[in-house]
Amino acid sequence: MKTTLITGGNGGIGSAICVAMAQNGYKVVAAYYSAEKEQAQLWQQALREQGVSIEIVGGDVTDYESAKNMVGEAVLKAGPIDVLVNCAGITRDTTFKKMKPDEWNAVINTNLDSVYNVTRQVINDMLDSGFGRIINIASVNGQKGQFGQTNYSAAKAGLHGFTMSLAQETAREGITVNTISPGYISTPMTQAMSAEVLDAIVGSVPVGRMGEPEEIAHTVLWLASEKSAYVTGANIPINGGLFMAA
Ligand code: CAA
Repeated sequence: MKTTLITGGNGGIGSAICVAMAQNGYKVVAAYYSAEKEQAQLWQQALREQGVSIEIVGGDVTDYESAKNMVGEAVLKAGPIDVLVNCAGITRDTTFKKMKPDEWNAVINTNLDSVYNVTRQVINDMLDSGFGRIINIASVNGQKGQFGQTNYSAAKAGLHGFTMSLAQETAREGITVNTISPGYISTPMTQAMSAEVLDAIVGSVPVGRMGEPEEIAHTVLWLASEKSAYVTGANIPINGGLFMAA
């Protein structure tokens, strides 16, 4: 049985990924932000009542030592990590002319530095075992930019640069590294937007609706599979046609 660690595991997209992985034979560890322990425990309990068993570990992915302890705890609970999904992310949307240093830093630290802090803890075990899957959840807005998201778009674009470089370093070791770039998905993150702005954006999506978290989880499962060994360094768009690139 393979083990998967999902950061932001109790979040909107992370939660769907945890459930899909658990229902498809993975041992699942969800990493939650340590300040949200109570919510994470309630989330775990609610899933348990539905017959879905998930381990949880707390930490702060913006902090290297905390990430190290968190991954160590996950390995103690479930064994070495075969599949890492970097899904922890936040927004602090505002136009650049108004953006404060803490709004820039919070987004870069949580959405980009975290990927170094967490991936660094699992890579040596993956190299030793000759198998690994690293899946980074970015965003359509890392590909096309978005009014009000200089911080978020910079972090998400950076994430795919990381993906392509690490994919090259590990391609001969049985490890694949890929990015998924979701569009506007029904989660608390998009629910926090003003209805007017969200409606205008969704109105421009060719498929004509928002995406569902399960539609992201479906692709995570596919990338995690042993049969996807020849897919690496890719950036897979799941955005209802909002952004198309050659
Ligand atoms: N392009 C050009 N101009 C625009 C614009 C756009 N897309 N959007 C707004 N403007 C203009 C407005 O018309 C307005 O012009 P006037 O001053 O002449 O009236 C001016 O810019 C200011 O716009 P706002 O009133 O919107 O500014 P605000 O300060 O009230 O709000 C904002 C700024 C909060 C960033 C808001 O624009 C916003 O929410 N934008 C959308 C951000 C977004 O898409 N976030 C995604 C969150 S979900 C997520 O991130 C998940 C994912 O991966 C997709």
